[in-house]
Amino acid sequence: MARGVAVVLVLAGVLDGAAALDGAAALDGAAALDDVALLDGAAALDGAAERVLAQMSFSEKVSLLHGTGATEPYVGNTRAVERLGVPALALNDGPQGIRVDRFPGTSTQWPSALTVAATWHEPSIRAWGAAMAAEFRRKGANVFLGPGLNVARSPLGGRGFEYLSGEDPYLGATLVRPFIRAVQAEGLIACAKHWLLNNQETDRLTVSVKVSARTLRELYAPPFAAAIEAGVGSIMCSYNRVGGEWSCENARTLGLLRGELGFGGFVVSDWGAVHSTSLSAGLDQEMPGGVFLNESSLARVPRKLLDLAALRVLRAMESAKLLRPPGALGVPPEPPPDASRNVTSDANRRLARQLAARATVLLKNDGRRLLPLARTAAAAPTRTLLVVGRQAIAPLTGGGGSGAVVPAAVVTPLDALRERLGVDGGGGFVISYDAGDDARAAAEAACRADLVLVLARCGSTEGTDRADLRLGEGQDELLRAIAAAAGERTIVALVTPGAVLTAPWAAQTAAIIALGLPGEAHAHALVDVLLGEAEPAGRLAVSWPNVHNEANWTAAQFPGTGAGGTVEYAEGLLTGYRWYDALGLAPAFSFGHGLSYGGPFEYARLRVQPRARGCTRGRPGDGGECKVAVRLSLANRGSRAGVEVAQLYVRLPDAEGEPFVQLRGFAAHELSPGESVDVAFWLRPRDLAVWGERNGGGWRDVCGRVGILVGASVRDIRLRGALGVPCPSTAATAVI
Ligand SMILES: *[C@@H]1O[C@H](CO)[C@@H](O)[C@H](O)[C@H]1NC(C)=O
Ligand SMILES: *[C@@H]1O[C@H](CO)[C@@H](O)[C@H](O)[C@H]1NC(C)=O
Ligand SMILES: *[C@@H]1O[C@H](CO)[C@@H](O)[C@H](O)[C@H]1NC(C)=O
Repeated sequence: MARGVAVVLVLAGVLDGAAALDGAAALDGAAALDDVALLDGAAALDGAAERVLAQMSFSEKVSLLHGTGATEPYVGNTRAVERLGVPALALNDGPQGIRVDRFPGTSTQWPSALTVAATWHEPSIRAWGAAMAAEFRRKGANVFLGPGLNVARSPLGGRGFEYLSGEDPYLGATLVRPFIRAVQAEGLIACAKHWLLNNQETDRLTVSVKVSARTLRELYAPPFAAAIEAGVGSIMCSYNRVGGEWSCENARTLGLLRGELGFGGFVVSDWGAVHSTSLSAGLDQEMPGGVFLNESSLARVPRKLLDLAALRVLRAMESAKLLRPPGALGVPPEPPPDASRNVTSDANRRLARQLAARATVLLKNDGRRLLPLARTAAAAPTRTLLVVGRQAIAPLTGGGGSGAVVPAAVVTPLDALRERLGVDGGGGFVISYDAGDDARAAAEAACRADLVLVLARCGSTEGTDRADLRLGEGQDELLRAIAAAAGERTIVALVTPGAVLTAPWAAQTAAIIALGLPGEAHAHALVDVLLGEAEPAGRLAVSWPNVHNEANWTAAQFPGTGAGGTVEYAEGLLTGYRWYDALGLAPAFSFGHGLSYGGPFEYARLRVQPRARGCTRGRPGDGGECKVAVRLSLANRGSRAGVEVAQLYVRLPDAEGEPFVQLRGFAAHELSPGESVDVAFWLRPRDLAVWGERNGGGWRDVCGRVGILVGASVRDIRLRGALGVPCPSTAATAVI
């Protein structure tokens, strides 16, 4: 979608009501029509999309701009224009696998996006995206309603589990590029969502967000900018309001997409998120029906505006190779779309299991290093393993709402444990089970066991934020009792949508592993990790706080005040690890944290190289030309292979008012004992720039001393250096 010709709108200052209205007025009509005028140029009329558009009737064009009203079999459907080879669009949820409620158990329930994000591993993201997209295609869907990209603001956010960014814009931007490319390479149109600032579920249909232009640019927009760079075909406007204006009719926020970010695809509404015939503001397609975008309302819209919206939809179809020769739709050998088809496979379940294992974060493995568990030799005396918790027999594996997928096949953790750890399975453990309903009885049983495995969980669902960060259902009390009775022999495995509070019991337990929302293959993935057959290569994509509302946000910050809700992002950039770092505080478990079975890993020979050779060969097109290379060597000094995720953080000069570190690179490497690898990170101009609010706003290169920090998490920094950037910035020099 590189042909995004659009209006450049400058968002200045705070997006409050008045300013937002100015913005809308500035765009209304005139600016959008200038854009359309470019359509008349001969150069624009070269592609298949343009040729199809030129032959379309008014009603055919309108049919591209709204759904049919049906939400089955796909959640969104447009009408095909058979005579011109334009297929029906079949838009479908969701970000962790195709959801077809009418045919439960016919697709793979994959780990959630936040879970896979914890791999910090682009090849994993690519494999996951491609496999999910292939399931969509085989069921006949051609628009993948994902990835979810909203950067986590509050750990309570009910849809946090659906988002690929975790709490960091750089992580989200880096992971979304391979995801979009993988999905669209399967012949689908990806749909990045939810634009914009859809960071909570409380009052989600009405809440209005007030945010500074800088916070918006630096924290919440970058993953969407990266999706656009990767050629995403569509973006979904959200339910909420920004600066008092609905996202799907907000000329300022949609203008930001079209102008500054150069988006050339189509904007589709969230389901029911349209409030007016807002084509001139930048909306292109209403879902699921045509309440505001229909033949009678669009008859009153300037024809060129209509053409532009239709063209954006057609261009996304063209890029995804969905346009066919006229009349060729539905002609054999192409099988007709069939949403009922069972598209799971052994290969996909294997991949889901590998991803779930790889994304597992080993939070703690203390003292005797219980993990990985050794299988007992046949001759050795048997040991007893007590498995505690309802999760062992009735597992929660995914989140709720439009991101839910009914799994095709779920093995319970207890069955997987018995099969592979039990005496009959050759694991040498005599396994018993306690549901954990009576904490005291479970603690007494724990006293008698050689090893205790507690499986705890909590869920999350679209439509509601979590009330607090406790596990709930009596599990905190249960964990406290067991930790007090047999903590040094206790392993805790957590299935959670994101952060939970561990303070009441974590210190006394021997090991904690966090599986996220791991999907249907989770039970064997868990055992793979327990046995060390898979390395827990996950690193936290969100900080785990010590207490509820640790930053003492006011209600005006979260979840909002007033009728319908107004939320002010008064904390600015200080969310997640940035807040802890700025205040010098430690969370319970930090962003980027996760232990390996391998290692220890040695970080050495940090080099900061301005204008380094090979810089531009880094990753062409991803975020601009490289400016500085940061290199180091990473070695496995232990006796076991393992995965280490080296992380680069920068601390911008004090004068920038950003006195906290920020992620600017990461690399996951699997290293055998004694093996070492040269790691290179590439800093691009945007990585060393801040959004200045003055003079209408704009990106400005920083100057002064930039701290360069490399380590195993944001709070486990192993190497420090610096980069001196002269003011004004002409050439950068290393001062390491
Ligand atoms: C078309 O849109 C207009 C404007 O929103 C609305 O008033 C009208 O009811 C819609 N017509 C249909 C058939 O939905
Ligand atoms: C779909 O196929 C899988 C095997 O790949 C099977 O386990 C599952 O039961 C099937 N689903 C239905 C609804 O039959
Ligand atoms: C938040 O409020 C609590 C209770 O008043 C206080 O103890 C704590 O220091 C505050 N935390 C911060 C970071 O201000």
